[in-house]
Amino acid sequence: MEAVEMIRQQWSGTPKAGMILGTGLGGLTAQVEVDCRIPYGDIPHFPVSTAPSHAGQLVCGTLHGVKVVVMEGRFHYYEGYSLQQVTFPIRVMRALGADTLVVTSAVGGMNPLYQLADIIILEDHINLLPDNPLRGVNDDELGERFPDMSEPYSRDLVELARQTALDLSISAHKGVLVVVAGPNLETRAEYRMLRQMGADIVGMSTVPEIIVAKHAGMKTVAFSIVTDMCLPDAIEPADLNKIIAVAADGGAKLERVLAEFLRRW
Ligand code: HPA
Repeated sequence: MEAVEMIRQQWSGTPKAGMILGTGLGGLTAQVEVDCRIPYGDIPHFPVSTAPSHAGQLVCGTLHGVKVVVMEGRFHYYEGYSLQQVTFPIRVMRALGADTLVVTSAVGGMNPLYQLADIIILEDHINLLPDNPLRGVNDDELGERFPDMSEPYSRDLVELARQTALDLSISAHKGVLVVVAGPNLETRAEYRMLRQMGADIVGMSTVPEIIVAKHAGMKTVAFSIVTDMCLPDAIEPADLNKIIAVAADGGAKLERVLAEFLRRW
């Protein structure tokens, strides 16, 4: 794989985990003891990130004792990429040696018990994207045709994350994410429908990456920050600047949880 060869020329480390940092959550890389930073544009076949507040570089190094390769900025379906492009970096992380994927994202909160900047530890998801990253001929070397999805988020890591937040007295809920294509936010009727389907939060990312990670046999854990409340009968117009500000707020809490999570891991 050309992308892996290129990264290998700059970094000899073997990552334990791949990490993806979502909207407004790029600050997490400040704690990484960095070996190298590689702009996406320098990596063969990597798409280039166009989303606001996504830096667009791969950060290789050590985070609280764990060797990591971190995506500072991710690719979204709404940017026009195929889901194969969106998830290509997961294949690269796996090929570099990562056996676990840690994902973060900004989401809308539909569960009325949630509050702005709360941390949600994903326990399940609903894929409402009009496509699937595994569509097409299956490469048996990468994974099986019909990957099992009975445990999309590794139970032991979810429990470790929950216990870590609890011990730090940081409020964190377990929740179900529904992913939509975006880029528009949802109508009141759509929020009502998505909530009735069984989802606690709604976002535009994470699920494709998790599907590919499961296909590749990786363990997975995902954290979302509630950046806007989506209660259909009390909705306020969304404000992107506010969403990014709340993400930074929640991100600061998530940094503390992730730091301790990695130390205990
Ligand atoms: N809907 C979808 N995706 C989101 C939202 C939302 O309300 N907030 C942050 N990401």
